[in-house]
Amino acid sequence: MKLSKSILSIVVVGLLAILAACGGSGNSTGGKEKLEIVTDAAYAPFEYMDKGTITGFDIDLMNAVLEEAGYEGDFKNIGWDPLFAEIQGEKADLAISAITINEERKESFDFSTPYFESTNMILVPEDSDIKSAEDLKGKKVAVQNGTTGQAAVEKILGKNHKNIKKFENNTLAIMELVQGGADAVVADNTVVIEYAKNNPDKKLKTVKDENNFDSEFYGVMFPKGSDLKADFDKAIKTVIENGTYSEIYKEWFGDEPDLEALKKQMEK
Ligand code: ARG
Repeated sequence: MKLSKSILSIVVVGLLAILAACGGSGNSTGGKEKLEIVTDAAYAPFEYMDKGTITGFDIDLMNAVLEEAGYEGDFKNIGWDPLFAEIQGEKADLAISAITINEERKESFDFSTPYFESTNMILVPEDSDIKSAEDLKGKKVAVQNGTTGQAAVEKILGKNHKNIKKFENNTLAIMELVQGGADAVVADNTVVIEYAKNNPDKKLKTVKDENNFDSEFYGVMFPKGSDLKADFDKAIKTVIENGTYSEIYKEWFGDEPDLEALKKQMEK
């Protein structure tokens, strides 16, 4: 009798502990501030929809950074142009979307420390004679509206040139090329390389032009004056230092990131 009583009390204490643990974990998730994160998930491998879920390098990185900084995130795929409006109107807390940090955008937004190096690149049919950005003159070029790809093409063809076909997202720009409505697409190197590789049936190749296309760096974008920037800069630096960034990078790109180039840029 005595024994079974103590067994009973152990069971009761155990149950209480389990209940407490459940309550505890519920509280700890509820205790973290949930941030509204917006993206344009039509830019694989950085952000894209996979069976209804937003996925990609940017998403994995952001989840690691959120964890490090002690926040939770609610990701919303809202498209490229709306993303700038939502951040400017402070309807969302931050945007991650392979967004290049540049002077023009810095006038209206704050950016985190840079987290990825990129440059524009040309995507053309395998049999195209386009070998450089200069060769785009006289050709129809499809771009995603409001990107650095559009700006890079405008520098060569001229602003508002009729041969520049602007699309709401990069997938539509590539479709235009595939269907023959454009001779080339200009977009971020990683994105066009990945597309050509993953869609061999489309018979496309990529053309680089280091003389005409600058080196760019992606950053997380915040409303001007957001006090989240400090936390995120710190967390991004930590995940780069502690190897988490390299792990995520390897998962998506198969090789080691060039952390030296990134760190140099971060010090600027
Ligand atoms: N890096 C380029 C820019 O900032 C293109 C980014 C497009 N990103 C996207 N998720 N659609 O202009």
